[in-house]
Amino acid sequence: MTIQHSALSDQLGALIESFDFAREPNAAERDELYQLWLEHGLLLIRGANANPQNQIRFSRLFGELEEHPLKNIRSGEFPELMELNSEDTRTSPVSQWDGEDWVGRLGWHKDLIYTGKPNRGAILRAVHLPEEDGQTGYGDQAKAYDALSDGMKARLEGLKVIYGFEVNLYRMPFLDTSNYVAGPGAPDKPSDIGFPDFPDSRYPLVLEHPESRRKILNICPMFLVGIEGMDKSESDALLTELVAHVTRPEFCYQHQWQAGDMILWDNWRFMHSAPGVKPGAKRLIHRTTILGDRVLGESV
Ligand SMILES: [Fe+2]
Repeated sequence: MTIQHSALSDQLGALIESFDFAREPNAAERDELYQLWLEHGLLLIRGANANPQNQIRFSRLFGELEEHPLKNIRSGEFPELMELNSEDTRTSPVSQWDGEDWVGRLGWHKDLIYTGKPNRGAILRAVHLPEEDGQTGYGDQAKAYDALSDGMKARLEGLKVIYGFEVNLYRMPFLDTSNYVAGPGAPDKPSDIGFPDFPDSRYPLVLEHPESRRKILNICPMFLVGIEGMDKSESDALLTELVAHVTRPEFCYQHQWQAGDMILWDNWRFMHSAPGVKPGAKRLIHRTTILGDRVLGESV
């Protein structure tokens, strides 16, 4: 091993420090970085020369990049970069949670889970950080699967779960909206945010990771609809139990950003979330997206 790394947290992830993003890794280092990503699913990389060009170059070590379909959130200069900007009120409307105003809050989800072809992964780089808030949460569905009882593992075998695209949080049955009040700019239909509609997708509830072969509890609260062919009350009860399990603190990590941090995650294995920032706080994150080269679910 020539890439020095340590544990990112007690629960999950790996940390690589003193990395120089300007230096092209050799073949052995590239292989190690890929293996670390596959093993841990979540890498925080810190070091020198974290800038847009180097983020794009570094991201390509892990696969082909995908440009975001929405041109208005692409960086003007670098189409491979997507800008997550808390000051863009079109993409970050104000909403109320627990009686307070928040911008950019996102529940636990996996990108493109509502299609059959989630992206392989993504890298976020902290460009400008607010003085408080603005963390990113990551949840490991492989560890969550491993911790299930043998009885539950047997019960889930062969089940298929349905995900559906939705932009109105009130219509996501497994997302807790009891303390949520939609703000005036909250979208109600896909076209409100420039998205097409998508047909529902069906996945194995327990997904086998195509590369690591680890079993993944493929449950995240956003976009989750139900279990195929199961009585609705039984499906609702089982999914409620699984959502509570997969979001337990021991499978999750909340990242407090430092400027220049890059985080790479495996979107086939990890869900992510964001508590958001207070209105007026500036948070700018650049994101690259690694294309999913395999179809994991199917349209229904
Ligand atoms: Fe996301």
